[in-house]
Order: sequence, then C-alpha cells, then structure tokens
Amino acid sequence: MFFDSKFTVIDIGTDSIKAVKFKKKGKNLAALDLGLQSLPYDSIKEGRIIDETVVANRLMELIRELNCKNSKIITTIPNNNLIIRNMELPDMKDESQLAEAIKWESEDHLPFPVESAVEDFRILSREDGNVQVLLVATKRDMIDNFINIFERISITPRVMNIQPMALVSLAEYQNKIENTVAIVDIGMSGTRVVIGDNKNIYLSRTIDIGGYEFTRIIMEEDKLSYSEAEQLKKEKGIQEEFDDEETEFDISQIAATGMGERQYMISMARNLAEQIGRSLDYYNMKYRKKVDQIFITGGGAKLKGLKGIIEKQIERDLYSLDPFLNISSRQAGILNSDEFAVAIGLGVSEVLA
Ligand SMILES: Nc1ncnc2c1ncn2[C@@H]1O[C@H](COP(=O)(O)OP(=O)(O)OP(=O)(O)O)[C@@H](O)[C@H]1O
Ligand SMILES: [Mg+2]
Repeated sequence: MFFDSKFTVIDIGTDSIKAVKFKKKGKNLAALDLGLQSLPYDSIKEGRIIDETVVANRLMELIRELNCKNSKIITTIPNNNLIIRNMELPDMKDESQLAEAIKWESEDHLPFPVESAVEDFRILSREDGNVQVLLVATKRDMIDNFINIFERISITPRVMNIQPMALVSLAEYQNKIENTVAIVDIGMSGTRVVIGDNKNIYLSRTIDIGGYEFTRIIMEEDKLSYSEAEQLKKEKGIQEEFDDEETEFDISQIAATGMGERQYMISMARNLAEQIGRSLDYYNMKYRKKVDQIFITGGGAKLKGLKGIIEKQIERDLYSLDPFLNISSRQAGILNSDEFAVAIGLGVSEVLA
C-alpha cells in the first residue's frame, strides 16, 4: 500500500507566513524544504486577515516555491480569542453527553457567546467519579477567516492545530520537559506564554506586546515609516541603560538625543516582562510549583537587550529554543530559526501524536 510520509506545515503569522515541507519516518523528521514570505504591514490585524488577496497571493507563492500543493497541509489557528482551560466535571461514560456537559460548563470560561464558538476537548484523566478535561475553544469566525485564505487557492488543510500545543510539542520532542516548562513566543502582534508538560497545557495567555510595539515607538519618535523603523530596530535593539550621571540630562536634551525613545523601549520591555512574570506567578500559586525552565522564541525574541531585561525583572534565566534541533535539514544554518518555532512544532506534533 502506498503511504505518503510527506506533509507541509504552514504558519500564517502577522509578520510573515512560514512553511516547512517534512518527511517523517517513525519519530524522525526531516525538513525537506522551507520558506518564508513577508506580509505587508497591516495585512493581518489582531489575528484577523484584513487583506485576503495579498495574504492568499503570498501563500500561493510559498506553496509554489515548495511545490507542495498536493501534499497533506497542516496549519494553525490564530492565538487571538483562543481559550485553553483545564476543567473538572462529573464523569459520564457517554462521549456525546460529556461533550454537551462541557459545552454548558464552558460558558463561564468564554469571553464570547458559546453559540459563536468552536470547541474541542481532550480527556486528561478520570478518577473518583470525575473527569479532567483540557478545553480548547475559539470563535468560529476566526477559523473561517483563515480557512477562506486556503479556499481561495483551492487548498483544504487536513489538520488545524493550536500554537500553544505546537510549542509544547517542540520542547517535548527535544526532551526538554522534566516536569513543566514555560515557552514565551514573542511574535509581531503579541507574546504568548504557554506552560505545559507532555500531557497537558496548564496556562496559555496572550500578552498584547509583541515586536510591533517596539517598532511603533521608533516610528513615532523618529517619524519613520514602518519598514524604516523595523530596520533600525533590528540594527540597534534596545540600547543599554545610562548610568545615573547621564540620566540627569534635561528634558530638551532627551528629546534631541533620542533618549526618550530608548526609555520608552525599556519601559515597554519591562511592561512585557512584568506580564510574563504575572503568568508565571499565577502558575506558581495555583499549582504550588515552579516551571523547570523558561524558553523564549519567535522573531521578537531577537530584539537585542530584551532577553536581559526580562531575565532581570522575573529573576529567572531564559533559554533559547533552536527549533531545528534533532531535525535533519538540507538547509544549513537557517537564518530565521526563531521564527520557525511554531511551524516546526506543528511538524513534531504530527510525529508525537
Ligand atoms: N533581529 C531582530 N531584532 C528585533 N526584532 C526582530 C528581529 N528579527 C525579527 N524581529 C521581529 O520579530 C517579529 C516577527 O516574529 P515572528 O515571525 O515570530 O512573528 P509572527 O509569527 O509573524 O507574528 P505573530 O505570531 O504575532 O502573528 C517582528 O516584529 C520583527 O520585527
Ligand atoms: Mg507567530
């Protein structure tokens, strides 16, 4: 019997679309080909595809590049409005009855009406007449919005996974999970904090500070276009703080020398760090334990100076997560490896499942 071991993953991000063509053999994965297509600024906003034509065209180009139109396509839904919760219910043996009960119960957990939601769940354990489930829910129109793009180019994705699951799978595939890990994915539109282990996701939060917020500061302070500010941000990063003597400049000098911009970037980074810290604290309190390790990934993690600011504030070390570890690839020294974490995670989810 013919068995197709090839599949392609596609991660439509706010800044760029990433695609990886894989071949699997047992639990081993080879990345046969990969590609990245940048998207024009503003084509996706708050997880919603605004300029469908542009996004569909770029996706088509990528699919042509990788020559994967007929392969099995796996993709992900946006993080916006994605709800992941652990719930406990009285056990019922009948699956459809349980699904119905979860639907009722989930009403309290959703910030939108249950009628407009798509829900899925996974049974974690059953004990003492109770059942623990992991609930995943999102708004139906968020999914439709993404499916539309694929339909425009006559592709039907076979699997739609969620990004937090892809990230936890990546850590699992790399044997990084002893007890629990936290993964911080800093994208363009926001930062995702996921805490999980091989079985479960205990926390998944979106913080609305991502790479864009830093670019925006440079746009406003230096009166630059988006792409000019992006370039400057990637070159300069967040520059070191001045020591006390130097901060005694008067305000007019601050404006003239661009010190305001630096201060804004530092406080944005601290704000992000504080919110990451709050997610970790919440986990510590609820489960009375700390995560083993904290990984950072996503293109935004490359912002020079950011990692140090977060580490200092949350008083924990951050580790990078090389998505291509343990994956054989023809492309040596991949440039944007941080950006590929979700895509590779989607791939490894397929072999871990
Ligand atoms: N060298 C760099 N220095 C600073 N920032 C960088 C660098 N390289 C990429 N970035 C930033 O990373 C972000 C893009 O990362 P990524 O590709 O992970 O986001 P995305 O997946 O497209 O977006 P999202 O997940 O929010 O939908 C952009 O904001 C970009 O400016
Ligand atoms: Mg992303």
